[in-house]
Amino acid sequence: MDNVIAGQGSDEKEYRIKITRNGPYIVTGGVPLSEQIICQDSEGHSHGWREGKVFDVPNTYTLCRCGKSKNKPFCDGSHFRSDFDGTETANRATFSAQSVEVVGPGLTLSEVPVLCAEARFCQRAGDTWSLVKRSDDQECRRIAIEEAGECPSGRIVLKDKNGNIIEPELPPSIGLVEDEPAGFSGPIWVRGGIPTESADGFEYEQRNRVTLCRCGHSKNKPFCDGSHLEIKFKSSE
Ligand code: FES
Repeated sequence: MDNVIAGQGSDEKEYRIKITRNGPYIVTGGVPLSEQIICQDSEGHSHGWREGKVFDVPNTYTLCRCGKSKNKPFCDGSHFRSDFDGTETANRATFSAQSVEVVGPGLTLSEVPVLCAEARFCQRAGDTWSLVKRSDDQECRRIAIEEAGECPSGRIVLKDKNGNIIEPELPPSIGLVEDEPAGFSGPIWVRGGIPTESADGFEYEQRNRVTLCRCGHSKNKPFCDGSHLEIKFKSSE
C-alpha cells in the first residue's frame, strides 16, 4: 500500500524536521505552528479539532523533545541538565510493511498499533474496527472515514474497495496537541508529509500525519506512544 503525501508543497518550501541526539527537534522552513485542541461530542468521545494559539515562528526554531523546557513548546536547553535520553527506537520499516489489516465489505483498515497517540477518535459509535466490519452500511462507512481522518498519529489508514487510500488533505504544518478532555498535553502532530530526519541521518517515511513525542517518555521515539497521559504531561508546566 502506498502512503498519501498530501503536502506536495512541503519539499518546495524546504520544510524539514531534524531530530538531534538527546536534544530538540530543529524545524526549518518556517513551518506553521499552532495548538490543536481535541474536542468532544455530547457523549464524551473525541470528535473534531479546534485551533488554539497560533505561534509567530522564524524560519528556524527548536521544539522541546524532552518535556522539561520552561519555555514550551520551544527548547530552552533543559535537556542538557536533565540528561535526556532521546534514543530513537521506533521500527524504521514503512507503514505498509508493518501494518495489519481488517477487511470489511466497503472499507479496509490498515493499522500499526504502536503508533497510537491515545487521542481516542477511533472509539466513537462503537469503534472504527467494528464500523469497518459493517462498512456496507453508508452511515457506518461515513463515521469510520471521519474517525480515521481525525486520528492525528496515522495509526489507522482506510482504503476503499479499489484500494484507494482515504485521507484528509492536510496542509504542511505542525500542531501541538492539547488533550483538553483528558486535561493534559499531547504530542507534536506533523501534518502534510514534512520530511523528518533522525539524529543518525535516517529519513523517516514521509506520511500525511505522524505524531512525535514531546513529553520525553515515549518508548517508541521519535513517535508518540501515549506516554504523555501516564505521566500527566502539561505543556504549561
Ligand atoms: S529538548 Fe531542549 S529543553 Fe527539551
